[in-house]
Amino acid sequence: MLVLGIESSCDETGVALVDASGQGVPVLLSHALHSQIDMHQAYGGVVPELASRDHIRRVLPLIDEVLGQGQRSLDQVDVIAYTRGPGLAGALLVGAGVACSLAASLGKPVMGVHHLEGHLLSPFLSADPPAFSFVALLVSGGHTQLMRVDRVGNYELLGETIDDAAGEAFDKSAKLLGLPYPGGPHLAKLAQGGDAEAFKLPRPLLHSGDLDFSFSGLKTAVLTQAKKLGEPIGEKARADLAASTQAAIVEVLVKKSLKALEQTGLKRLVVAGGVGANALLREQLNAACKKKGIRVHYPELHLCTDNGAMIALAAGMRLQAGISEANSAYSFDVKPRWPLDMLAAQQ
Ligand code: KG4
Ligand code: ZN
Repeated sequence: MLVLGIESSCDETGVALVDASGQGVPVLLSHALHSQIDMHQAYGGVVPELASRDHIRRVLPLIDEVLGQGQRSLDQVDVIAYTRGPGLAGALLVGAGVACSLAASLGKPVMGVHHLEGHLLSPFLSADPPAFSFVALLVSGGHTQLMRVDRVGNYELLGETIDDAAGEAFDKSAKLLGLPYPGGPHLAKLAQGGDAEAFKLPRPLLHSGDLDFSFSGLKTAVLTQAKKLGEPIGEKARADLAASTQAAIVEVLVKKSLKALEQTGLKRLVVAGGVGANALLREQLNAACKKKGIRVHYPELHLCTDNGAMIALAAGMRLQAGISEANSAYSFDVKPRWPLDMLAAQQ
C-alpha cells in the first residue's frame, strides 16, 4: 500500500512516499521539502498569497523528486493524501487541488489529513517510536495543546492555549529583539549566550490548576523590558532577554506536560510541532520525565517542522487502523480552522 502525501498548509511545500503495507509502522521511502522562509523573510512573516503561488510552483517538481528517490512510478501509488486543514485556505487549496486531480487522473482514492494529526504521529517515524497510550504536547506556530491519545484517530483535548501559541510567543518575542522570521530558532540561538535569570518574566497560568496555557502576556512583558533597555539594546542584554524569554516558555510547557501525565496516570509523552525542535525544551523535559520514570518521544529533528512525511504517515496509519475517509469523489474542501478533537466524531 503506497501512500503519496502532500503538505501545503503554510510556508512549506512537503511531499513524501510511505509504504503502509502490513500492520507495522509505515515505512518512509522518500520525502522532499521546499521551505518558503527566505521568500517571506523580507515581509517579517508569511504572506498568504505568495505562499499559495509558491506551492503551485513547487508541488509537481517535488512529487517527481519523491517518486524518483523512492524508485516508484505514479501508477504504483495506491492513495494520495493531502493536508485538508488547519492552515491558510489558499495554501491548503493548492495541495487539495493537486491531490484530487492527480488521483482522479489515476483513478485512485484521495484522503484529506489533519495537519496536527500529522505532527502528533510524526514521532512514529523516529528511531524510538512511541506506543499507545500517551500524552501529546503539540507545540507549533499556531497551536499549543495537550492531548490524550489512546489510538490513531482518537484525540482527547486536555488543555490548550487561550491566546497565543508557544511558537507565536517565540516568534513575536524574537521580532521585538530584531530577529528575522521565523524567530523561534533564532531566539534559541541568541539565548545560548544569555543568562536566563537576568529578567523576571511571567509564567502565565503556571498555577492555574488546569492544563491551559496563555502566552500573550509574556510578549507584552518582553516588550516592556525591551523598551526599558532603550534602543539599541546591547548584545549582552539582548542575549539575556532571549534566554529569559525561552526559559519562561519552556518552564510552562514542561510543568503543564508533567501535570497532564500526572492527571492521566500515563507514563509516555510525545512532543510534536516546530517548537519540539527547541533544545532547552528537550533537555528540561528529558530531565523532568527521567525523574518520574516517564518515556519521552520526539520526531527526528528535520521532521519537527512542517513536512510531507507526517501527512503520508498519518494517512497510512489511518488506513491500517481501518478508519480512513479515503474516497473517490474528488470533490474537495479545505478546513482552515479544524479542531483535532473533532476528528473522532467524524469516524
Ligand atoms: O509546526 P511548525 O513548522 O508550523 C506550524 O504548523 O505552525 O512550527 C513552526 C513554529 C514557529 O513558530 C517556529 O519559530 C517554531 O516552530 N520553532 C522553534 C524552533 N524551531 C521552530 N521554536 C523554538 N525553538 C526552535 N528550535
Ligand atoms: Zn505544522
